[in-house]
Amino acid sequence: MSSPPPGTVETARFGPETAAHVRAFFGTEPTPLVPLRGSAAAWRLAGVYIKDESKRLGQQAFKVFGGAYGMACWMSKNLGVELQSCGGIEGLRKTYLEKKGGVPTTFVTCTDGNHGRAVAWAAKQLGQKAVVYMPKGSAQARVDHITGHGAECTVTEMNYDDCVKFAAEKAKQNGWVYFQDTTGPDYFEIPGWIMQGYTAMADEAIEQIKQLDEGALPTHVLLQVGVGSMAGAVLGYLVERFRQEGLPVPVAMMLEPENAACAYESAKKGDGSTVDVEGDLESMIAGLCCGVLSDIGWPILWKHVDGAFVKIADGLAGNGMRLLKSEGVEAGECGGAGVGFVRRLMLAPADDKKAAELRRGLGLGPESRVLIFNTEGATDPANYEKQLQLPDVPAAAHDFEFVLRRLPETATSEPLAEMLKVQA
Ligand SMILES: Cc1ncc(COP(=O)(O)O)c(C=O)c1O
Repeated sequence: MSSPPPGTVETARFGPETAAHVRAFFGTEPTPLVPLRGSAAAWRLAGVYIKDESKRLGQQAFKVFGGAYGMACWMSKNLGVELQSCGGIEGLRKTYLEKKGGVPTTFVTCTDGNHGRAVAWAAKQLGQKAVVYMPKGSAQARVDHITGHGAECTVTEMNYDDCVKFAAEKAKQNGWVYFQDTTGPDYFEIPGWIMQGYTAMADEAIEQIKQLDEGALPTHVLLQVGVGSMAGAVLGYLVERFRQEGLPVPVAMMLEPENAACAYESAKKGDGSTVDVEGDLESMIAGLCCGVLSDIGWPILWKHVDGAFVKIADGLAGNGMRLLKSEGVEAGECGGAGVGFVRRLMLAPADDKKAAELRRGLGLGPESRVLIFNTEGATDPANYEKQLQLPDVPAAAHDFEFVLRRLPETATSEPLAEMLKVQA
């Protein structure tokens, strides 16, 4: 873990003011917020809300706001001008190319799909070039989305984390801008900007829930974790917003696939340091197959997750994809994972002590309103079609594991050791 410069991991960077800048920069309509009324009733919850990022700028994932906002921040800094005065995407593109004699800058990144597509889209809109590397086994459809925006894309023989290092090397060799959505040694500025781009969806979601249900606010939030940039940014936003309004910050559930559960393992270790997960990181939930946490995302999660770190079996993501399809929402693997897990938790068999313990620990019940981000649509159409044909996977003893972590200020008067309880 490398040490971020002072201020880098402060939630204030990700609050409502930042979200307002991001929303103004893009100037687009919010993505839909879909209430799952039937599921909420069946799961004995007051509300379940899906923020549907499959509809974000036609790019099927929230990542596009991060990639494009981050690239815009880099370009405006390079020009020495305030981003807010650049006239949005079109204005920035024109000014940059004018100042650079029409010569675009090359941005290089590694991706398991959505971030690379975001960078390719951003480069195209902003008049720049993108070079993208992908880990072995990446789906052809995800490659096609990237090359479809005119970017160069290569599928390597490496796992995600090695591929990230490879992209950094390529940048050095070629004088390109290394443009990653996670941190590295002395590399914090760009991932911080990308994270700021993610705050907009949280801002939209809170407004939409309030409007939909007469001022209601989420009591719980579920966030998927790959490197933890998205979860750190959204949680950072929620901490800032709810504290500014004097309200209790939603109880947070962090979700990972069981074979790439670096946040879960780090939380289980319990001293604030990170644990890397190595190997193939094999899971169909491709967007979350990361074994090394962001040095901006993790400190925010460690300090502010008042809830639980959870790892799940892939089958629960498939259940969620089918459930959302039946509600008219297109959900890829990452999106389905959140709903599939909440359903598993709320519809657990009566003798499922583990689920009961987690529900109790999180205070999940009839008063709870749960916000879940459908972070992607069918970004791998072949697997999407396959999953839709499969039957639901029944609850199993080890289809999820958790570390409960309630913060001292919100937990009951139990001793600290009890509050930071690790499930065996
Ligand atoms: C669809 C989707 N959801 C969630 C995530 C997790 O985001 P992060 O890697 O910032 O934790 C990703 C990351 O690629 C993703 O593509």
